[in-house]
Order: sequence, then structure tokens, then C-alpha cells
Amino acid sequence: MKIQYPFFQQVQVLFLGIHFLVLFPPLYSTAQTATSGLKDYYRDYFPIGVSVGPRSLEGDQAALISAQFNSLTAENVMKMGPIHPEEDTYLWENADKIAQFASENGLLLRGHTLCWHSQTPDWLFKDAEGQEVKKEMLLKRLEDHITAVVSRYKGKVYAWDVVNEAIADGEADFYRASPWYTIIGEAFIAKAFEFAHRIDPDALLFYNDYNTINPVKRDKIYEMVKRLQAEGVPIHGIGIQGHWNIHSLTEENLRAALAKYASLGLKIQVTELDLSIYKSESGRRSKGADESDVFTPELEKLQAEKYKMIFEVFRDFKDVITSVTFWNVSDRHSWLDNFPVRGRKNYPLLFDKDLKPKKAYWEVVKF
Ligand code: GLA
Repeated sequence: MKIQYPFFQQVQVLFLGIHFLVLFPPLYSTAQTATSGLKDYYRDYFPIGVSVGPRSLEGDQAALISAQFNSLTAENVMKMGPIHPEEDTYLWENADKIAQFASENGLLLRGHTLCWHSQTPDWLFKDAEGQEVKKEMLLKRLEDHITAVVSRYKGKVYAWDVVNEAIADGEADFYRASPWYTIIGEAFIAKAFEFAHRIDPDALLFYNDYNTINPVKRDKIYEMVKRLQAEGVPIHGIGIQGHWNIHSLTEENLRAALAKYASLGLKIQVTELDLSIYKSESGRRSKGADESDVFTPELEKLQAEKYKMIFEVFRDFKDVITSVTFWNVSDRHSWLDNFPVRGRKNYPLLFDKDLKPKKAYWEVVKF
């Protein structure tokens, strides 16, 4: 039966409704305006971050960043090579700029990364004679580095990627045969966490890696973290980089990995999200880009569907996922341009090269 309310009652209800919206906007999640950013749509879920270099903090990109995001990660300038190029030289300027932008604009700041095998300075693994450095000296260098960097950003960086990419990809090996591993052994991982925790006991400390939803690597990461926990190592979370592509990413692998990591009782942060439009290719393709490397409407649609799925899954795991960070701001520039194929442009993000939201963006915020 349809109930007819007198006209004045309808007006009253409408009036009360408007009042409610004005008084309690946060309770009304679908009331987002066209000017709402990702951070606003996801206010009840997790912060949405972006990786930046000092130049992305100027002009139109800066405006987009503060409108859309509420967390920052330094794309490169906090890594060992850029920040500590010589044993007695630290270059803070670029990292400081990012920390300053975060604090002036009220964004969170993630630190990336304290110990990695790539983008390391030349001096690190050599002694004064140019020979491979001894274990004790390398540990001391790791301690000094972490002490200096974590002290500088104490109270500014709330979460650190402490060790990046220590696990091997294939089935054959457990750990990656990096200089850290071959010189120190697996203890370098626990030590890095201990050094960071000693300097900033309030910072949340993450192990960060790629291919984390691949079942083989996933199980190894799970094993390693479980061992670290059993040894009492101060580790608080797992960073899932999330450099995926639209062709091979499956919901099944994503859900299974999140559930498995969550069972460790740690937090998960998605630290480096982007979604390449190309199938993965190992090694650089020597002939460079060709005519097949085009962002077609079909690929755009598939990308939008995959982003929709990814964020549906993330929302389902909102109790364990405490941050989602995109790797680069927009398709104007991504580390995937020219990599691994020279001259090839990629389109992996939610904003196009004019910083306009893509189809994928609207799928991410429509829920
Ligand atoms: C890894 C690192 C990042 C970045 C990307 C490629 O995922 O963790 O810092 O270098 O590779 O840009």
C-alpha cells in the first residue's frame, strides 16, 4: 500500500533531511561533490597516498596532490644512493622538501626505503682498498645509515619501508642473493628493523616487496615474517608494492595474499600501486616501442574494470589495510615510461597526462 503524506509533512521531512546533511556531512558518504578527492571518498577506509619527487610538488601537480591525496612517499630521494651518496655525506635537501610539503599540507609521510639492494651508493659494499666490505663493517654502515635517516625524520615519517625486496622471485631460492644477504646473511633483515625501532619506537616498520600476491613468493614472505615475529623483531606490517598489469592480475590471487598476510596479525599497506596496460616482459625489449603499444579504448576499459576490482577487494580488507599509495601522480610521467621497453609510453595511473580523472578513477570512487 502506498502511503500518501500531506504536503506540509513532505516539506518538513525534506527540511529535516537537508538539516541533517548540513549538520552531519561525514555520515552521508554519497554526498561527495565533484571536487572531492580520492582521500575524501576513502575517508572511512584508509589514507590514499602518492609517490613524488621534489618537482611534482610544484604547479598543477601540487594542486592535484593536495586535492586528491593525504599521504606522500618519496619516489627516490630517501633511498640510500640519493640521500647518502658518500660515507660522510648526506643530502637532505630534496627529502626535506617532501617532508615540508607533507607537514604544510597536512599529509602523512611514509619513508622509503632504508635497506635495498638497488639504488645503493658505490661506497657501501667496498672497503678502503676497494675490496668487498666485511660483514661487521657492512652492519655498522647499515646501522649508521638507518640511525641518521630515521633520526632526521623522526616524528615526520610515521611508517618506514625498512627492508625492500629481500625475497627471491623463483622457487629455487628463498632469499634474494643481494650483497646484503651474501655478505651479512639473513640477519641483515632483523638488524635493519632493530636499528630503525631503536631510533624511533613510534614509527611503524614494514617489510616491502613486489610480486607479493604471486603464491610462490607470497608463501616465502609469509614464512620470513613469521620467523621475524617469532624472534621478537619489531616488524609491524607488510608492504605490498602492487606493480601489477591489467592482463595477469587476478582477484583470487589478490584476496588469497591479503588473507594470508592478515593472518599474521600485522597491518598491510599497499605501497606502490600502478597498473600497467602491457603484459609483463622480463628484460628490456631491444627493438624498442612499436605500433602495437597503444592505449586503446579496450585497454582503457579493462584497466577501469581491474581498478574497480582492486579497490573493491581493498575495501573488503579495510580492517587490515592501513594505507594505499599510488606510484607516481599521473600518466604524464610514470617510471614505467621507457621501462622495460625503450620509447614506450605507459598509462598506469588514475589521472591522464592533463591530470584529468580517467575512466578508472570513476570506477575507484563509485561505491
Ligand atoms: C621498486 C622500488 C621503488 C621503485 C620501483 C620502480 O618497486 O621499491 O622504489 O624504484 O621499484 O620505480
